[in-house]
Amino acid sequence: MIIAVDGPAAAGKGTISRKLAKHYGLDYLDTGSLYRAVGRDAITACIDPADHSAVADIAAKIDPSTLADPALREQKTADMASVVAKIPRVRAALLEYQRAFSQSGKGAVLDGRDIATVICPNADVKLFVFASAQERAKRRYRELLDAGTASTDYEGVLAEIEQRDERDMNRAEAPLKKADAAYLIDTTNLSIEESYRKAILYIENLKK
Ligand code: CDP
Repeated sequence: MIIAVDGPAAAGKGTISRKLAKHYGLDYLDTGSLYRAVGRDAITACIDPADHSAVADIAAKIDPSTLADPALREQKTADMASVVAKIPRVRAALLEYQRAFSQSGKGAVLDGRDIATVICPNADVKLFVFASAQERAKRRYRELLDAGTASTDYEGVLAEIEQRDERDMNRAEAPLKKADAAYLIDTTNLSIEESYRKAILYIENLKK
């Protein structure tokens, strides 16, 4: 079984996806971490994101064993990730790894922005996880505070999320959008457990 989970920043896709993977015994890939790794390496190498071929070279050399690096969670990395994610050659360089991951083993849960639309258009299950920008900023700010890595206040986090939404939804290549067949879960007023239950109920009904 392949489960595709898309949605904007900090909507809860990662948490729901991890729980689904555990429940169904599937592998899990946070595809955002690939774009974050490209962002991190571009920052480290002082590469200008306008230099598409230099950034594409970085994307071609991403080492999946570095995807748990805490630097990936920093705000400046997220910001750079959404800038480099607009570059078609970067997306092309990361596509094969994601497709191969989805097809290996017993199946997988992948979360990101274009999983149901581009990476796994034939996924068995497609979910679109959403929440208001204010609620998402509240959650992300709390996460950054807990990790001790908050570099701005709530307003700054909200501005960064809104800017990233705008970039992710309006880019020409693989923009963030709900696939027609995707099941929408609005988590604005739901707990993690309630959101997860909704996903499970939907999947179990599909399987009948
Ligand atoms: O964790 P959060 O939801 O804030 O973001 P993420 O999933 O780690 O993704 C970081 C950035 O990578 C996004 O803002 C997108 O620009 C980009 N991304 C993408 O373009 N396509 C994906 N499949 C996943 C992430």
